[in-house]
Amino acid sequence: MAAKSSRVIAIYAGSFDPITNGHLDLIQRAAGLFDCLIVSILRNENKLPLFSVEERMEMLREVLRVYPNVRVDSFGGLLVDHAAAHGATILLRGIRAISDYEYELQMALMNRRLRPGIETLFLMANEAYSFISSRLIKEVFSLGGNVSGLVPPCVEERLRLRLPTVVTKGA
Ligand code: PNS
Repeated sequence: MAAKSSRVIAIYAGSFDPITNGHLDLIQRAAGLFDCLIVSILRNENKLPLFSVEERMEMLREVLRVYPNVRVDSFGGLLVDHAAAHGATILLRGIRAISDYEYELQMALMNRRLRPGIETLFLMANEAYSFISSRLIKEVFSLGGNVSGLVPPCVEERLRLRLPTVVTKGA
C-alpha cells in the first residue's frame, strides 16, 4: 500500500461573483488549518455571472496573494473529481445561518456518496459578515448602497467600473 501523504489539502469552491469579506474571513481562518487551500471557481455555463471567471480569478489572486499556502483555480464538472485530481481530501464550506444548512447538507451528502474518501468540513461564518452574500452585494451596490467594509477595496473598485448605480432619491 502506498504511503499516505501527511499534507492536508482542502478545496474551497464557489462562484465568488465577487469575493466578499465573508469569503475572505473564512479563507484567512482556513489557511491556518491546512497545508494547502485551493480556492476554486466553478465554471458554470448555465449561470450568467457579473464577472467572468478570469476577472474573478484576478480578484481572488489579488486579495489572496498574502497567503503563501492558498492557491486560486477554476473547475468544471464535479467538485469531488476536481478535489481528487488535486489530492484534496477536504471540501471546505461556510455556514452563515440555519437557512444555509439544508442546501449544504444535500451537497455534503451527495459529495460523500460520490467520493466517500473526501470529507466536507464546515466553518461558521464570522458573525460580522453572516448577513452578506455576493448576490446582496451586487444588488445593494447597483441601487446606490454603500458596500465598503463588506468587500475588499479592489472588488469595490471593480463593481464601480462594472455596475452603473441607480440612485432613486425621493421617488
Ligand atoms: O458559490 P456556491 O453557489 O455556494 O458554490 C456551489 C458549488 C460550486 C460548491 C457547487 O455548486 C458545486 O460543487 N458545483 C460543482 C458541480 C458538482 O459537483 N455538483 C454536485 C455537488 S453535490
